[in-house]
Amino acid sequence: MDREKERIGTHKGKNRRLQTLPAEFLWDGLVLKEDIFNHTGAVLLLPKGETITKSRLEKLMGFYGDNKNIMVYEETYLEIMMDEHTSPEARQKMMESHVGYARLQRDIGDLFERRDYDAWLNREKLAPLIREVASRLENFDPVTILSCINFPRPMDEGLQRHSLNVALLNGMQAEWLDLPPDDVNTLVLAGLVHDIGKTMIPEEILNAPRRLTNEELAVMRHHPVYSDELLSGKFDDNVRLAARHHHEKLDGSGYPDGIAGEQLGFCTRITAISDIYDAMVSARSYKGARLPLDVFDMFYREEFDGLDRSLVVTFLKNMRERYTNRQVIMSDGRRGEILYIPYNDAEHPIIRQGEEVRQTDEDWYCKEILAAD
Ligand SMILES: [Fe+2]
Repeated sequence: MDREKERIGTHKGKNRRLQTLPAEFLWDGLVLKEDIFNHTGAVLLLPKGETITKSRLEKLMGFYGDNKNIMVYEETYLEIMMDEHTSPEARQKMMESHVGYARLQRDIGDLFERRDYDAWLNREKLAPLIREVASRLENFDPVTILSCINFPRPMDEGLQRHSLNVALLNGMQAEWLDLPPDDVNTLVLAGLVHDIGKTMIPEEILNAPRRLTNEELAVMRHHPVYSDELLSGKFDDNVRLAARHHHEKLDGSGYPDGIAGEQLGFCTRITAISDIYDAMVSARSYKGARLPLDVFDMFYREEFDGLDRSLVVTFLKNMRERYTNRQVIMSDGRRGEILYIPYNDAEHPIIRQGEEVRQTDEDWYCKEILAAD
């Protein structure tokens, strides 16, 4: 956990920022290493050294009526987040709040609901959002951000989360490629708006909890054209074309135009990788979510024909590096550490669990990858 704390400057004494936490995430028997406060941070509820008991927990939940939040120092927040008592769902909620992902998702959701596109769909109005996304990338470790990205999501949050995720993944790729800050911003922007055309697709098709019929699929596949129309004249061609072409393939087998090779720009090629990665890790109604390691394997096995192979290689190399040495929760419920991710078999990493070192298989596999270690 030390490396993570260092990145966000939460070493004792350096940063005493308080963070909101639902009181229900505490547990009977937790010994407080730090004071805890009420939801405004103004009233000390329990001093450090005290133990949470069932009756104390009930009291904490009942103090302020409907508001069942408390505030804790960031260090305590991270410890609670990574503790074995904390469920994957609670951990996810805490992670998204800690990274600022939850707020960004809400902001994007609010924008996308507005149909006065002329008022907000331009670079100037979106600049604060681009800055916010870029600052998440600067302040947090990629695996922490990927933990927010990789979690299964409700269907009705699909578009806002996908747009944010592709923006974050585009920004990550831009950094791994050492692109200048202007290009990072352009790629983040392209990620944010690439699927804006989906706001023109009827809800029952967009969020259908089943496979689409051929007719519905044709409607759905028109969304890059809508994106192009909405962005036209408002953004430079890199952004507009990434939106129109993100489902095109280098071999010409994509849609909506079936163009190929050199006709697909750099920004489009990067956005296509982010788009596929996010689609594969996220839960869909007709297939389960996948762990990122499984998705790396699919990229390696070239299941996604028509992507730029040199960009895929950079993507996989960086992803493997970031996930090595991470803590995981295994299918047996115990924790372990990823020692090595085989280049040609990322789905089956080598895990250290106590004294034992072994490769995962069908019966013994990673269930959850923890962001902080
Ligand atoms: Fe799309």
